[in-house]
Amino acid sequence: MSRVRSIVRGVGSYLPKNVVTNAELAKTVDTSDEWIQQRVGIKERHIAAEGEFTSDLAVAAARAALENAGLTPDDIDLIVVATTTPDYTFPAAATLVQMKLGMHHGFAFDIQAVCSGFVYAVTTADSHIKNGLAKRALVIGAETFTRLLDWTDRTTCVLFGDGAGAMILERAELAEGEPERGIIASALRSDGHHWDKLYVDGGPSSTGTAGHVHMQGPEVFRHAVGKITDVVYATLEQSGHTVADLDWFVPHQANKRIIDGAGAKLGLPPEKVVTTVDIHANTSAASVPLALSVAVADGRIKQGDLVMLEAMGGGFTWGASLIRW
Ligand code: UT7
Repeated sequence: MSRVRSIVRGVGSYLPKNVVTNAELAKTVDTSDEWIQQRVGIKERHIAAEGEFTSDLAVAAARAALENAGLTPDDIDLIVVATTTPDYTFPAAATLVQMKLGMHHGFAFDIQAVCSGFVYAVTTADSHIKNGLAKRALVIGAETFTRLLDWTDRTTCVLFGDGAGAMILERAELAEGEPERGIIASALRSDGHHWDKLYVDGGPSSTGTAGHVHMQGPEVFRHAVGKITDVVYATLEQSGHTVADLDWFVPHQANKRIIDGAGAKLGLPPEKVVTTVDIHANTSAASVPLALSVAVADGRIKQGDLVMLEAMGGGFTWGASLIRW
């Protein structure tokens, strides 16, 4: 019996041109390069230009992924954009991406799961492909997260950046006996009781403004490693694989100490963990596909590799997805 799978055809990413180092931030807020590098492992972040919106970053990442896959927008019939920072309250950033790619066909929508958004989007696209609703999905994580920052609050403003990453998933029917490929298993979780540990104090229904990020950093940190490892184990369990089978662990890029903590708790050798938080800070839903793109471009992730994606963030939301590349 054949098995329908969503296989990865390509990845791509985009970072805005403007780079802001820790030292530059320390000129306007009471912080230091040493504190940021030691506590979070961030060296610099990219900040979108005036007039450059989330959909623009998403389109740049989408074009890079299409080129990587050798495909054109005509080949895509589903666009899912994971974002917390859409250009407008509505329409979805995804429909703007569809327009900017010159598409009139298919369907497009956004997913809002903050930093876990890309894992939620990959899982949703995978379901749509398996249900026969789509053949080729462009899955994007894109954020202009710095637009939600209070630049006088040193506990949050040093942590985040802007960026976008994209992945193309394609329906494939694996023949009897053909080795497993594509998305093998996923697990998603949320617990809204933790909503106020990481949230934005504005919105269309409450204040009518976009608001600013507030975070109880140490509380989020306290939950992160346990929730990440639980969902990774749940995903492995479904698939029959173990941690030892993983070639690459591509975690959400929020804090190097959280990444190292999760890697150590899982018993993963550090060289199997992809870390890019130093070059782009926490870009929320964009961070996992940004890290993936770096590891594919530099030749680390190759066809046949077993790759575990994971993320945890506001909500709380968290999730993981296991992919045979
Ligand atoms: O992507 C969604 C998930 N989000 C996360 O994963 C974030 C999770 N949390 C974290 O990564 C960490 O909790 C932070 C990086 C946010 C903070 O690190 P921490 O080690 O938990 O520090 P802390 O909040 O306990 O603060 C320690 C000290 C405090 O000073 P006192 O009270 O000890 O004198 C802070 O005021 O560091 C101070 N501090 C800073 N100092 C210099 C806080 N922010 C800064 C700063 N520069 N930017």
